[in-house]
Amino acid sequence: MCGIVGYIGPKDACPILLKGLHRLEYRGYDSAGVALINNNGSLSVYKSKGKVADLESHIAGKDISGTIGVAHTRWATHGEPNSQNAHPHYSQSRNLALIHNGIIENYKPLKQEMMNHGKVFKSETDTEVLIQFIEYIKELHGCNLFEAVQLALKNVVGAYAIVVIDKDNPNRLIAARKGSPLVIGVGNNEFYIGSDATPIIEYTNKVVYLGEEEIAEMNRQGDLTIVNLENVKQTPIVKTVEMNLSDIEKADFPHYMLKEIFEQPDALFNSMKGRLNIEQKDVLLSGIIDYKDEILKAERIIICACGTSWHAGLIGKYIIEELTRIPVEVEYSSEFRYRNPVVTDKDLVIAISQSGETADTLAAIQLAKDKGAFLYGICNVVGSSIPRATDTGSYLHIGPEIGVASTKAFTAQVTTLMLMALSIAKLRGTITKEYFEELVEELYAIPEKIKKTMELNEKISKYSKIFTYARNFIYLGRGYNYPIALEGALKLKEISYIHAEGYPSAEMKHGPIALIDEEMPVVVIAPAHSKYEKILSNVQEIKARKGKIISVITEGDTAIKELSDIYFEIPATMDCFTPLLTIVPLQLISYYIAIAKGRDVDQPRNLAKSVTVE
Ligand code: G6P
Repeated sequence: MCGIVGYIGPKDACPILLKGLHRLEYRGYDSAGVALINNNGSLSVYKSKGKVADLESHIAGKDISGTIGVAHTRWATHGEPNSQNAHPHYSQSRNLALIHNGIIENYKPLKQEMMNHGKVFKSETDTEVLIQFIEYIKELHGCNLFEAVQLALKNVVGAYAIVVIDKDNPNRLIAARKGSPLVIGVGNNEFYIGSDATPIIEYTNKVVYLGEEEIAEMNRQGDLTIVNLENVKQTPIVKTVEMNLSDIEKADFPHYMLKEIFEQPDALFNSMKGRLNIEQKDVLLSGIIDYKDEILKAERIIICACGTSWHAGLIGKYIIEELTRIPVEVEYSSEFRYRNPVVTDKDLVIAISQSGETADTLAAIQLAKDKGAFLYGICNVVGSSIPRATDTGSYLHIGPEIGVASTKAFTAQVTTLMLMALSIAKLRGTITKEYFEELVEELYAIPEKIKKTMELNEKISKYSKIFTYARNFIYLGRGYNYPIALEGALKLKEISYIHAEGYPSAEMKHGPIALIDEEMPVVVIAPAHSKYEKILSNVQEIKARKGKIISVITEGDTAIKELSDIYFEIPATMDCFTPLLTIVPLQLISYYIAIAKGRDVDQPRNLAKSVTVE
């Protein structure tokens, strides 16, 4: 949430900062701003409501010189999205400027204290309180900015990633974090800062992930000093990021979302690479093998996640229980963390998070850790907070996901959970060798089958336009495809702003059936499996009430096909793997309906990709 960029070095800062903001815009996009120490020594802050493009128009013709600066793209928490509330924020003297991602929870008493000291506020944000407070401390103690930031942060409750610049010292940049991510790119006598590595990788692949409650100072001589809040010096650990520029560009696709939908066959292949051995018909998941004893000790699995990752967790429950016979609970992280849940050292807690930074999921696993559970992380962003906070885990290995609506991360999370289920089932001996091998072979075939499913693209693009009139949608699925009904509905809501509900098909008659009339599109996810006959009856019930039926069926289906207004056929696969195919047409339906309605699919209103506030 909120994108942060910073630069100090020999180059012109502004173009680097603006490019960085574009790369981070998926994190928040209600307003944007940049602060530069200009070549004439003044500290200029330019801000505007709206997107980075609006900021670019706003700064046209202004002094954007300078080789040190910070920039921000905002997802509003405190104060409406307008230019006053946009970051960077000046201190009272206008000598300091600050950008911030996170929430300062004790901002109210701090603001009152600062007002008592004569500070005047121009915005409604918690961030302005922080920069006023830093300046107050600096003046009170007559210390330098680094020390002032350190002292101020000791009095701050909440989460933050901040970067501060000081007009009187254009040779250094100060950054700090707690709870919100911050990455420092190390160049030749220059430093780049980003909320993640995406604004950095075109300049350097050497990065330092700033740790919890650490403060960094970077100068033009290429020195990077890191201390913690107690002033104990920390040794910066420089890591190499394996990310290419092509991973974060749209290539020939009009949107990241479409690119990422189409990347799924390759993404899943990469997720399975080195883990699923087709010659030996085996699964080798190092996160499990290296911690075999801890995993085998588990009497229960608790999955914690939010949003789309939670839907992946629900599919994980179905397959893990089926194959391993370990009971699985799937929890919304935000509920789990606040309800004093029963967790013991016999629990294995799996945290699923694309970003690896979701505040509620991070808090949920910290709670589970305190209660003695063993922690497994399934994340995409390498080096993010959740993989660092868990005992073991698996990265998705699918490259960055930039579209706000999660697509390839979802199918990769489901695939990883399937690999986990297979690994644990093998260790526990809960399925036969023959069944294990059959599952391994079929999972290996899934990327090709997704590729085949992609051939629906044209048909979906043509038919989706019909549904722009709809104000509501219902999605129905059973068994492994019940979570797909939820995820399909979420995708549509997120990017088209059409209200949609996902339901287990049999629950329809307990309420949602009252909504069905000739206007209501009902998406029925009905691949040919054990529950097929049951779903067929549900489809007949909808048809009898004149609902519009859009079905996702297996090639060769006849019964549901005949009842459908529009149908999309997927290749046949085993029941437990159907979600990896059935979700694809639903992703495309959402995409094309949103496009037909003129929505901004990569940056839907009010949403953000990485939710670092609770
Ligand atoms: C946000 C995103 C969703 C995502 C959810 C959880 O709401 O818009 O796409 O599913 O956060 O994020 P995570 O990074 O933990 O998977």
